Amino acid sequence: MEKKLNIIIMGPPGAGKGTQSELIVKKFGVKHLSSGDMFREAISNKTPIGLEAKSYIDKGLLVPDSVTINLVKEAISKCGKQGYLLDGFPRTLIQAEALAEFTKESPITSVINIEADDSKLVERIVSRRVCPHCGASYNLISKKPLVDGICDNCHTKLVQRADDTEESLKTRLKAYHSMTQPLVEYYSKQGLLHSIDGLQNISVVFDEISKILEGK
Ligand code: AP5
Ligand code: MG
Repeated sequence: MEKKLNIIIMGPPGAGKGTQSELIVKKFGVKHLSSGDMFREAISNKTPIGLEAKSYIDKGLLVPDSVTINLVKEAISKCGKQGYLLDGFPRTLIQAEALAEFTKESPITSVINIEADDSKLVERIVSRRVCPHCGASYNLISKKPLVDGICDNCHTKLVQRADDTEESLKTRLKAYHSMTQPLVEYYSKQGLLHSIDGLQNISVVFDEISKILEGK
């Protein structure tokens, strides 16, 4: 029987977590669990969690641990026997410890850490465009849609994420360095961490991730 993959993908905003997640899901059949996407869905549905999360996300601040942990815990519990890919969670030591606790029976199998220098991320973030309908993500420089401003998959008009401003990115990077980067050492000590240079081409980054997940 094939081993169940429970993967974490981490890295600063714009490192390429979402881009690589899309490719990993297709190749390895795991379920994509993105805490950011869960919050954006809650915001667009105007749920109580969405309304609370919006006030943090628009400013680039982390949503409180208690809210985030419950949301992700519930999503993992729905995966059953299917492996999953956590994108954007955990982001604090408290979240990592909670995750270890509720995945005791089927723990995390690898942590992919995409590295990218802060100075290169601004350009990526301000040139990202997303589809509000199907969630597909594009980039005006590195991943253009076939028709300007229109989603290839569902032909919806592309938009910019509300937190994709230079101002909000500064706060997101600060939060990343102070709250999330310590998890690199946390997972390295557990022998789970694989760091990858995220400034390479999308396909090169994906080849490296594939080799890690295939155990080569
Ligand atoms: P989240 O949605 O997770 O945002 P993020 O971490 O800031 O990361 P991004 O989604 O911006 O970047 P990405 O790494 O996915 O890059 P992408 O592949 O799109 O979280 C948003 C907010 O929600 C947080 O700020 C926080 O408020 C809240 N939140 C979420 N989780 C939380 C948690 N656990 N706890 C508390 N709060 C939480 O790529 C970016 C662009 O670059 C794209 O245009 C892409 O096409 C392009 N690109 C990607 N790779 C390459 C490459 N190799 N070469 C050239 N271009 C590339
Ligand atoms: Mg993302």
